Amino acid sequence: MITKKLEQFLEEEIQKLGYEEKVRVIVSNRRELCDYQCDDCFRLAKIYHKSPMEIGNRIVEAIQNSPKYAEYFKEVTFANPGFINMTLSDTLINQQVRCMMEKEKFGMEMPSKIDTYVLDYGGANIAKPLHVGHLRPAIVGESMKRIIAYMGHKTISDVHLGDYGLQIGQVIYGILKDQKQVEEITLEYLEDIYPKMSSLCKEDEFVKTECANITKDLQDGNLEYQLLFQKIKEVSGNDCKRLYDYLGVSFDLWNGESDSYPYIPSTTEVLKNIIEVSEGAKIIPVSEVTDAKELPPLIYQKSNGAYLYATTDLATIYERMEKYHPDYILYVADSRQSLHFEQVFRACRKSGLTKNTKLEFLGLGTINGTDGKPFKTRSGTAPKLDALFEQIKGIFLSQKEDNKDMEEEDIDKIVNAILKFADLQNNRERDYIFDIRKFSNVVGKTGPYILYTFLRIQKILESVSLDSNISNHIYNEDDRKLRLHLLELEASLNSALKERLPSLLADYIYTLALLANTFYQNNRIQGLTDEVQKNDWLSLFNLTKNVLKEMLNLIIIDIPQFM
Ligand code: ARG
Repeated sequence: MITKKLEQFLEEEIQKLGYEEKVRVIVSNRRELCDYQCDDCFRLAKIYHKSPMEIGNRIVEAIQNSPKYAEYFKEVTFANPGFINMTLSDTLINQQVRCMMEKEKFGMEMPSKIDTYVLDYGGANIAKPLHVGHLRPAIVGESMKRIIAYMGHKTISDVHLGDYGLQIGQVIYGILKDQKQVEEITLEYLEDIYPKMSSLCKEDEFVKTECANITKDLQDGNLEYQLLFQKIKEVSGNDCKRLYDYLGVSFDLWNGESDSYPYIPSTTEVLKNIIEVSEGAKIIPVSEVTDAKELPPLIYQKSNGAYLYATTDLATIYERMEKYHPDYILYVADSRQSLHFEQVFRACRKSGLTKNTKLEFLGLGTINGTDGKPFKTRSGTAPKLDALFEQIKGIFLSQKEDNKDMEEEDIDKIVNAILKFADLQNNRERDYIFDIRKFSNVVGKTGPYILYTFLRIQKILESVSLDSNISNHIYNEDDRKLRLHLLELEASLNSALKERLPSLLADYIYTLALLANTFYQNNRIQGLTDEVQKNDWLSLFNLTKNVLKEMLNLIIIDIPQFM
């Protein structure tokens, strides 16, 4: 990797000056000044009791006198108050580009220690239809999983269905009241009964208590309820699968909250030293002296003996620890659940349930409509996913007459690209406005723009044969910018992984598409008579195409045949 190579070079020079230190090289913050920079002069200055300027100038001088200087750099300068600015030589850029062309995963360095990540995302709730709010945890979680796996780590994904909450009690109450047989429980029926029962419970205290009792009895193993529950889970779960399939989102485990029940006794055993009894309920105090605002205790078991959301999460952690010994467990869910996860994580740390495993909550902002309120589809009340997909399809088809001739499969890929690029280009923690018209456009920062760019490059490369060697030339600024951006792939992926932000990769992809388009517009590749230059440029396009393809896969975007 380029930054590593520069770091090694700098360290050698620094050592010759008598400083025994590691340094870090990063992509420049000010591209108009240089390509890469090193900010370590400040740190070295402290250690060696000199000014950053003195240290910086000594290092720059040493670099300039190095026999490798010309091979590596066009220019290296010191910039106040303590930066070393580096502009790379064409030779070095091309050597690195060549390496990306030749090696698997573009020559990316794989980790020396492979970590195991459990990823908990999706989180659909059984018996309730999947809606727009479930898009983000599915998309961000799946992309995070693909990035982690691409970077060489082991992943285990779990949908963690919400399948033991009050909604199940409500639906069972409805089924009993309607005197429905097991075979009569269909998706249509569930979609009809759940909202009815949910609003009934809001009005009628008696029904609400009944539903809570049914939920409790179900959890305690009541056979009749279990039978109905299995059927509800099957019908509703299949529909979730179908929708996740459409989105290209998949899971290794289709577990739910209910699957954690067998682990509750062992979990209680581990937690017993931190569980307290308060008004008949079992609670775990989790506040810490450093809290600005006191954190309420986690409720582990209600006074009627029922277990709660937090209990199932703790028992699931117990199960995951036993089965997978993960290094990390990542939860991707709505930011409004941050208190819940903080309580759970603290209970784990306090009790030693997780030992060295790191627990992380990847909170998500809300998807809003153009009115700034939480997004709704045209039908208004229940923004279900099928309706949303149809709406996007409609808008995309209405944009251009030819779009109507496209293959169904290709249209679905574009719908997916519109949705996913709209979502993943935003920092996951922020709310964003889902403006279908804007995100369906082939110009702008959109999925269709990137797909269009990809297909255009693919077309240029059709039926050309490339010589695998490229020259040491860089022909102009557009060309240089494109090459440098290609070299930044590894740094972008590493940041996306480290920060848990697929948006950093989405940004990388967009910039790559933009630079490739600008390059193509300003430079006539096809008309070139110089065979070497033509091969260089076509090879550069081929690399761009391959990078786009693999990176689009990491943000769950499939490429259509035509558009
Ligand atoms: N089912 C939950 C919801 O819809 C999300 C689940 C998140 N994951 C977890 N392990 N709690 O709110």
